[in-house]
Amino acid sequence: MTVNFPPGFLWGTATAAYQIEGAAREGGRTPSIWDTFSHTPGKTLGGDTGDTATDHYHRRADDVRLMADLGLGAYRFSVSWPRVQPTGRGTANQPGLDFYRALVDDLLDHGIRPVLTLYHWDLPQELESAGGWPERGTAHRFADYAHLVAEALGDRVEMWTTLNEPWCSAFLGYGSGVHAPGRADDLAALRAAHHLNLAHGLGAQALRAALPSHGQVSVTLNPGVVRAFTGAPQDVDAQRRIDALATRIFTGPMLHGAYPEDLLADTAAITDWSFVHDGDPAAIRQPLDSLGVNYYTPTVVAAATDNGGPPGEALEPSPFPAATGVAFHRPPGKRTAMDWSVDPTGLYDLLVRFAEEVPGLPLVVTENGAAYDDKPDGDGTVHDPERIAYLHAHLDAVRRAIADGADVRGYFLWSLLDNFEWAYGYSKRFGAVHVDYATQVRTPKSSARWYSQVARTGQLPPY
Ligand code: BGC
Ligand code: BGC
Repeated sequence: MTVNFPPGFLWGTATAAYQIEGAAREGGRTPSIWDTFSHTPGKTLGGDTGDTATDHYHRRADDVRLMADLGLGAYRFSVSWPRVQPTGRGTANQPGLDFYRALVDDLLDHGIRPVLTLYHWDLPQELESAGGWPERGTAHRFADYAHLVAEALGDRVEMWTTLNEPWCSAFLGYGSGVHAPGRADDLAALRAAHHLNLAHGLGAQALRAALPSHGQVSVTLNPGVVRAFTGAPQDVDAQRRIDALATRIFTGPMLHGAYPEDLLADTAAITDWSFVHDGDPAAIRQPLDSLGVNYYTPTVVAAATDNGGPPGEALEPSPFPAATGVAFHRPPGKRTAMDWSVDPTGLYDLLVRFAEEVPGLPLVVTENGAAYDDKPDGDGTVHDPERIAYLHAHLDAVRRAIADGADVRGYFLWSLLDNFEWAYGYSKRFGAVHVDYATQVRTPKSSARWYSQVARTGQLPPY
């Protein structure tokens, strides 16, 4: 059966500055933590860096035309902080702002709605050298930066997002250290999480102050879909602990104005949380126009003690502070090239969870997609039936969530282009559009054609 999405539903793709722009040393841009990290031997697969990436900085106009040809109505991109404010403080770097102004103008000329994310992981290196996210000052720097970008682009960008996936910034960046800046320190990770929350709150206030009244403010999280391996009480408790560290550490203060009591108790051996000042939770809880959720795959946990089933594994290195005793299990089913299980019910569960937890707050799927080993055929086309299957199943999950009452306003496929997949370098292809990195030639995959049809018609065809 063909099903219709609501009128006005936003159909788009998403990217992030460091993953696509390249031009790392042009236009006054300074290094971010990802430049430093990717240039450190052993940190990324094959030593890949974002120096050139997909060269989007120089191919901006062509890339926008590509989106227009695909009939996409929205585009979620991020601003590179060190491109527009190279030292992380003080006045703006005009060439940096000019790039984003030109991008936004191109998008608007083609009737594509710009959805701007202020922070997708590329902290100016100077701010990391001053202590990074574990330091409170970084949250204030972020608010200044948010204000500066809003002043420059607020006349033409309506939809603003403060942070992308602060979980990854805090716990992959400072906990397990597999992402920039590559620190492995549980206390630093928890401090980073709080200061990212504070940055969101102060940043949202700065946006409200600078944007016209129709400006919309959001944040994008990657809430964990954490499942207990069995219904045994110790497995359910492991689920509760990881849910606190993966999701409620952000949604607690952002949506409800307080850190969860169980999180504070679970982490008491690491910190007394005295870095949370009076008034912080209130500053973090700001009115939002929507909540962005990113979803790829669920997490299955159990207590490390014997529950009668097969043993799970500890995560090594673990991004979760104080999560000793929790075992992670491989979910069943098909897998993507990331070795992530394909489970659209997780997206349904997530949307319904937030529809119930924060009634009245519109939701946007700001990222969803899959990596596969896509290769051009002899005739130059790229066929990716597995991605079409993935997208179909997840859009069907969105459709079911809407039917069950979730107010979902849009869907952004990750990603427009194959790009720099962080620590995996260029080895993982998430794009609807194939990129030949030697020539920078873009080739829409069959999934791009398929998604284009869905976006144009607002209809999910039978599968
Ligand atoms: C996912 C999160 C998840 C976390 C813990 C991350 O890679 O993006 O959604 O909560 O892993 O497994
Ligand atoms: C991030 C993207 C990343 C994608 C796939 C999300 O966690 O926001 O930058 O490329 O997942 O790993």
